[in-house]
Amino acid sequence: MLNLDASNHLLVLTGAGISAESGIPTFRDAGGLWEGNSVEDVASPAGFLRDPLLVWRFYSERRAAMEGVTPNAGHRALVDVERQLGDRFLLVTQNIDGLHGAAGSERVLELHGTLMRSRCTVCDRAPFEDRTAYRAGVAPMCGVCRRAGKDALLRPDIVWFGETIAAGALARIAEFVDRAGAGLRYLAVGTSGLVYPAAGLVDVVRARGGRSWLVNAERPVNAGSFDELALGPAGQVLPQLFA
Ligand code: APR
Repeated sequence: MLNLDASNHLLVLTGAGISAESGIPTFRDAGGLWEGNSVEDVASPAGFLRDPLLVWRFYSERRAAMEGVTPNAGHRALVDVERQLGDRFLLVTQNIDGLHGAAGSERVLELHGTLMRSRCTVCDRAPFEDRTAYRAGVAPMCGVCRRAGKDALLRPDIVWFGETIAAGALARIAEFVDRAGAGLRYLAVGTSGLVYPAAGLVDVVRARGGRSWLVNAERPVNAGSFDELALGPAGQVLPQLFA
């Protein structure tokens, strides 16, 4: 049980495992491969330079696969706890699927970007909502640049392997952790603990004396860093954890 009182702040980190019960395969469950390419190759600046069309085909498939996908009981349990805690709650997700927002979570930091948003590789127009699955076999180009007589590729608004996470996002986590002080509590859900900086959050919390919980289908590599472990599907475990 994760009991919280008025002195506690709760920082939550989610990974692909929380969306598994909504029908989205996790990266490493899928063997980390897509059409024979490693996901790290496709989801990288070098991969995009090499073959933008291949990368767009990969993300177009991801966009199309979101059709009819809805949040599950795990996402909803986090909405309920946020309603109780208000500003003493922050949800950091590595997922790009938008399901936390769809469930009703409001204080969400999408650390790795958003599948349904694109941005220009050249101009500084703001990233914009884009649900298009580009099926025509042509990589999409920026309309703003085209009107200025230039050709510029669009790209998904995603933080790829080898790219840095927006400084603003990390600053918001640091501000939350500082504000929480000794009342900080931490919960990680459905994440393999392999990808930094997210995987290191548990150590930040430990260094401050905060208690930590992990809900995951199996023991991840960094399981030993947590105080409490609840193994099982997030959609079943999370509602019980907060009951
Ligand atoms: N409930 C809880 N945990 C689950 C469930 C479930 N129903 N199904 C799977 N899991 C666990 C798996 O056991 C695994 O440990 O979720 C974890 C998912 O791990 P990954 O696929 O590695 O996903 P994640 O940790 O989110 O990956 C981190 O790596 O590929 C990059 O940028 C991408 O954001 C991603 C990052």
